[in-house]
Amino acid sequence: MEPSLRVAADILRAAPSVACLTGAGVSAESGVPTFRDAQTGLWARYDPQRLASPQGFRDDPGLVWRWYMARLTAVEQAQPNKGHLALAHMQERWPGFPVITQNVDDLHERAGSTHVIHLHGNIAQFHCHQCGTAHTLSAEERRAPAPPICKACGGPVRPGVVWFGESLPADALAAALEAVSACGVLLVVGTSGLVYPAAQLPLIAKRAGSRLIEINLEPSPLSSWADVVLRGPSGEVFPALLDASV
Ligand code: OAD
Repeated sequence: MEPSLRVAADILRAAPSVACLTGAGVSAESGVPTFRDAQTGLWARYDPQRLASPQGFRDDPGLVWRWYMARLTAVEQAQPNKGHLALAHMQERWPGFPVITQNVDDLHERAGSTHVIHLHGNIAQFHCHQCGTAHTLSAEERRAPAPPICKACGGPVRPGVVWFGESLPADALAAALEAVSACGVLLVVGTSGLVYPAAQLPLIAKRAGSRLIEINLEPSPLSSWADVVLRGPSGEVFPALLDASV
C-alpha cells in the first residue's frame, strides 16, 4: 500500500465525523466534462461569459438555453461512477454525512448519497430569470431552440444553476458552512479550488480543527492545506481509500 494511502486510511478510520466537498473531477469518469482541464474542460472550449452569466443570457438566451439543454441531456445519460458509489457507501459508516458538491448534476443522489448540498444549483431544475417562479418543463419545451416564457410574468425561464456574478443559494451555503465547521475529516475531491466561496470551505474546515484529505489528478491550491494528498482518479482512489480504512 502507498504510504499516503495508509496515512489517509488511518485518518479516515479514526474520524468521528466526515464531510466531503466535490467538484467536476468526481463526475469526469462518468463522461461529464470538467471546466478547467486543458483540452477537455468546458472553459477551454467555450466562453463562460457568453454561456454562464446573466449578461450572456440577456445577449443570446437561445444560445445559452441550447447549451444547457445539451449538457442536461448528457448528464441524464451519464451513470454514477465508482467514485460516486464509494462515497455513497461511506454512509454505512457515517449515516447521512454531508456531501457538498459544486456539481450541477445529480450523480451523487443517483449513486445513493442522501445528504447532498448543491452549492451551484441543479441543471435539471428551472425558474424564471425575472420573477423566480419555479417551472416544470415538458420534453418539447426542453428541446425548443429558445427558453420557455414564464406564465407568471413573461420573463425567460432558465436552468437552476449559479452563473458568474450571482450569489450562491443562501440555504446551501449556510448548510455547507455548518457542515465544514463540524466535521472531523473533510474529503476534498476533484476540484481545482479556484472558485469562491466553495474554495474557502476546506480552509474553514482546517481552521476549525478538521483534517483534510485531497483526492485529485493534479495539484491544486488546496493541496498545501491538505494533511494527505492522494493523486489519481477518484473512481480508483476512493474505493481504495475506503477498503484500506476498514
Ligand atoms: P474544475 O474543472 O475547475 O476542476 C476539476 C478538477 O478535477 C481539477 O483539479 C482536475 O485535476 C480534477 N480531476 C479531473 N478528473 C479527475 C478525476 N477523474 N479524479 C479526480 N480529480 C479529477 O472543476 P470545479 O473545481 O468543480 O461553476 O469547478 C468549480 C466551478 O467552476 C464549477 O462548479 C463551475 C465552474 O465554473 C458553476 O457552474 C457555477
